[in-house]
Amino acid sequence: MPDESTRWTRVGSFSECPTDSPVEFVVEGRIIAIFRVDDQVYALDGICPHQGGPLGQGKLEGCIVTCPWHGWQYDVHDGQHTSIATLKHTSFPTKVENGDVLIALPNE
Ligand code: FES
Repeated sequence: MPDESTRWTRVGSFSECPTDSPVEFVVEGRIIAIFRVDDQVYALDGICPHQGGPLGQGKLEGCIVTCPWHGWQYDVHDGQHTSIATLKHTSFPTKVENGDVLIALPNE
C-alpha cells in the first residue's frame, strides 16, 4: 500500500487505456505498462525482467500479459509470473482521479 514514502504521479488519461491491450507511458524516464481489466487499471514496470522486452506492447488476455519477445506471462494485478513462483515483477499501486490514471512511485 502507498504511504508517505510514495508519491502519486499522473501517467495519462483513463480514456487512453484500451480494454483489449496494454499501453505504454513514460513517466519520469521510466517505461510503465498500464493494463485496463474490468474497468480497473494496473501498472507494471514496462521492461520485462527476462531480457528487457516491452510488456506494454504485449498481449493482454484477462489479467495475464504475455511479453511479446519470448512469451513470459505475468498477472497484471501484482506482477506475479505465471509459472515461476519466485518471480514477481515490479508493480505499482494505481488509482483513477478525474479521468487521470495515477501510479504511486517510490520516493527515491
Ligand atoms: S524479454 Fe520478456 S519474455 Fe523474454
